[in-house]
Parts: sequence; C-alpha cells; structure tokens
Amino acid sequence: MARGLFVTFEGGEGAGKSTQIARLAATLRSEGRKVLLTREPGGSPGAEAVRHVLLSGAAETFGPAMEAILFAAARSDHVEQVIRPAVARGEIVLCDRFMDSSRVYQGVTGNLDAGFMSALEGVAINGMMPDLTLILDIDPEEGLARAATRRGSGDVPDRFEKETLAIHNRRRDAFLEIAHREPWRCVVIDAAASPDRVAALIDAAVRDALTSHVYLKAARQDQPA
Ligand code: TYD
Repeated sequence: MARGLFVTFEGGEGAGKSTQIARLAATLRSEGRKVLLTREPGGSPGAEAVRHVLLSGAAETFGPAMEAILFAAARSDHVEQVIRPAVARGEIVLCDRFMDSSRVYQGVTGNLDAGFMSALEGVAINGMMPDLTLILDIDPEEGLARAATRRGSGDVPDRFEKETLAIHNRRRDAFLEIAHREPWRCVVIDAAASPDRVAALIDAAVRDALTSHVYLKAARQDQPA
C-alpha cells in the first residue's frame, strides 16, 4: 500500500493556518483523497489532556523545560496513536503545528539548550519527519491583530499570544531560519497575501510534494529487492 503524505503547518499567531488547512483539506477531499486533519498540542486523547495544561498556563510556573517536556509527551502520543498509522494507511495528514513550534517557542524563545531540545525532538517524533512543512510567514504585528479580532473582545489571549512583540519577532526569524536550513521539506508562504493567493501557494507546494513522492515510490519500486 502506498505511503501517504505528512504535511505540517507552522508560523506565528494569526497567520491564518487553521482557515487555510481547512480549505486545503476540502480541496483534496473533493478529489477523492483521504485526508486527516489534526493539530498540536493535541490531536489524540492523551495529547488533548496535556493541551489544556499547556495553553491555560498551568505549566508556565514550572519553567520552559517542563513545558518543552510536556509538548514532547503530547507529540509522542499524537505521532504513535494518530499520525504514523494514518500515513501508513496511505492518507494525507495535515497537522496544524508540529515539532518546529517546539524548536521555536521552547528552544529559541524559551532559551533551552539545543542538545536538550534535539534529544526531546528525537524521542517525540521517533523518525516521523514531516514530508512537507509550510511556514506561513506574517509580520507579528499584523498576525496578533488578526488573532485579537478572531478572539473577540470578551476573550483573553492564551499563554503564548500574550507575550511581547519582540518575542514574536524572534519567533518569526527562527521559523525563517529553519526554512533556510531545511529547504528539502520547508516552503515559506507569504501569509500577508490575500486568502485566495495564500491558498494557491499552499496548493502548489502540496501538489509538488505529492508528485515527488510518486517519483520516490516509483524509484524504490524500480530497485531490485
Ligand atoms: P493554538 O490555540 O492551537 O493556536 P495557534 O492558532 O496559534 O496554533 O495554540 C497553540 C499555542 O501553543 C501557540 O501559541 C504555539 C504554542 N506551541 C508551543 O509553544 N510549542 C509547541 O510545540 C506547539 C505545538 C505549540
């Protein structure tokens, strides 16, 4: 059975990830493809339990290392219970945030040791590297304004949204740095463009990845056993 495709979406607050992921899922499904839509932190019952602890800020007082370990615990459960089985069934998995969010939010702006972070990442993903990572890039000032509008006036910003603009700017740079270092899986999308334009850019990147995977599969099948 053909292996599916694992696509992750990353970026700062208010970049429009959720809307765009839903839109892409609808397009792919209309072509008869099997799509699994998921998100982090969360995506499996175990990880959803940890999500509440993280986003409410309950773990914040215990420090960034504690938070990083909790994100990794949630990710490990999500990978083994949901992502890996779906990809093995040949499905296209679209995941709203994944390991790059930990690299950026905990590693870079949490000032955690690089060795510690990469050890955690290794345990959490256990080889389940994204085939394609779409980094939705937007000026944090605009992104935060969008996130505030989306929330409405009655709601408070979550644990991470409430941080300073300088921190959000460091995160933006860190995502772009990852894209620069790992171009084989990362594509930067200009999320300030119109929603239709963003959707078209995402669509093109996913088609590319689907095509190159067909080639890879063909190449593997051509090799003598
Ligand atoms: P969520 O409400 O899902 O927001 P968003 O629409 O921005 O994705 O909140 C997820 C928050 O958790 C977001 O601020 C980023 C943060 N986060 C981390 O700090 N590390 C991680 O590994 C992940 C997956 C998310």
